[in-house]
Amino acid sequence: MQWFIKTLTSSIGQKILMSITGFFLILFLIVHISGNLLLFKGDGGVAFNAYAHFMSTAMILRVAEIILVLGFGLHIYTAWLLTRHNIQSRPQNYVYTQPQANSSWFSRNMGLAGSIVLIFLLVHLHNFWFRYKFQAEIPLVAGGDYKDMYWLVKTVFIQEWWYSILYIVAMVFLSFHLVHGFESAFQTLGINHKKYTPLIKTIGLLFAIVVPAGFAAMPIYFLFFN
Ligand code: HEM
Repeated sequence: MQWFIKTLTSSIGQKILMSITGFFLILFLIVHISGNLLLFKGDGGVAFNAYAHFMSTAMILRVAEIILVLGFGLHIYTAWLLTRHNIQSRPQNYVYTQPQANSSWFSRNMGLAGSIVLIFLLVHLHNFWFRYKFQAEIPLVAGGDYKDMYWLVKTVFIQEWWYSILYIVAMVFLSFHLVHGFESAFQTLGINHKKYTPLIKTIGLLFAIVVPAGFAAMPIYFLFFN
């Protein structure tokens, strides 16, 4: 426990923790988008509902859920600690500083993009997690005894179309967050190589475009093609 407290109180420890939890959240995004692609199957939601039912009942996934909450929590907490530390140690005497010259717009706005993704996440969990568990009027799937998650997703994206707009805008900010976050996570852990770093940067950029675009395609699909 001592080492953990030590890690949390040094700024290099906080950066390492932020990149490890960042990697973990990247993995989560891959798993989440893979399952959600079933929304496009065109089978009226049969496969997606079976998947969502498995996700909400399998015991092993309850453990994964606790790890996920810890992952998100630590990522946000260390980001907050580091931002506070950076503000406090910023030089006050230099009138002329030019951050644009040696850092990208994406890296300077990680806090803004991350905060918008956090707001999205709270709305998102209310839409699909909270309402699925506690809203009474969700119909049951045909021939089954569990609630129709596909119906809920469709209802939110079509009837409550303003959420679709929020989701699409939030995915632009998720993309901004990942553009810098992906390569920065490798750099913090010291994974820096003449040959592989350019490849990591390319994969990171592709990931930051393809994954948020895939998520944004979901409300777009329901609004315009379903
Ligand atoms: C438009 C795209 C998205 C759709 C349609 C969608 C759909 C869903 C649905 C139906 C659930 C509840 C059932 C389940 O666990 O599978 C869920 C849970 C969740 N989603 Fe999403 N999601 C989207 C994007 C995202 C994004 C971009 C993030 C993260 C930044 C995210 C984070 C989460 C989290 C943390 C949970 C709770 C996981 C759990 O209970 O195990 N989702 N999402």
